[in-house]
Amino acid sequence: MGILTDDMKRVVRQQRLAFVATVCADNTPNLSPKGTIAVWDDDHLAFANIRSPQTISNLRHNSSIEINVVDPMVRKGYRFKGTATIMNSGARYEEMMASFTARGVSNLIRDVVVIKVEHALPVTSPAYDLGLSEAEIRSRWEHHYDAIKRGSEESTGE
Ligand SMILES: Cc1cc2nc3c(=O)[nH]c(=O)nc-3n(C[C@H](O)[C@H](O)[C@H](O)COP(=O)(O)O)c2cc1C
Repeated sequence: MGILTDDMKRVVRQQRLAFVATVCADNTPNLSPKGTIAVWDDDHLAFANIRSPQTISNLRHNSSIEINVVDPMVRKGYRFKGTATIMNSGARYEEMMASFTARGVSNLIRDVVVIKVEHALPVTSPAYDLGLSEAEIRSRWEHHYDAIKRGSEESTGE
């Protein structure tokens, strides 16, 4: 069994949005969203480099990476820390490109970044510290996003 649990894989596959942190040459952080986040295998995640010049430049100098994937409705997710490799060929690379093709982005892709996940931890909203259930939190945030859709400025907690 790898480091990625079934629930981690489910959240990554469902959310299709990760925030990816790398380290700049001057040691400042760099954080940017990646909608192509995907499960590579039981120990690896991947995303497509479409338009991420700073992330790629950073990884060429320092392979350290941290990724957050959070379900905005239930205010829960995972944080993954590890090292990244920039890939352009190989059988698994071709398979991953085929899955990106199915998502309609393959002709824009420059590289596939593969992350060996060394630490994987859950992350939850402090709303759970108040004793709220997942169903209650989901209901609050569904209400919030419904209000946004209606153009209302109603808000809720964290
Ligand atoms: C919702 C969303 C999803 C994105 N997904 C990707 C992606 O999967 N791959 C990519 O290269 N850029 C993606 N981008 C664009 C980059 O995040 C953006 O070009 C960013 O400025 C790159 O910064 P960086 O060079 O520091 O990584 C996405 C942007 C948004 C808002």
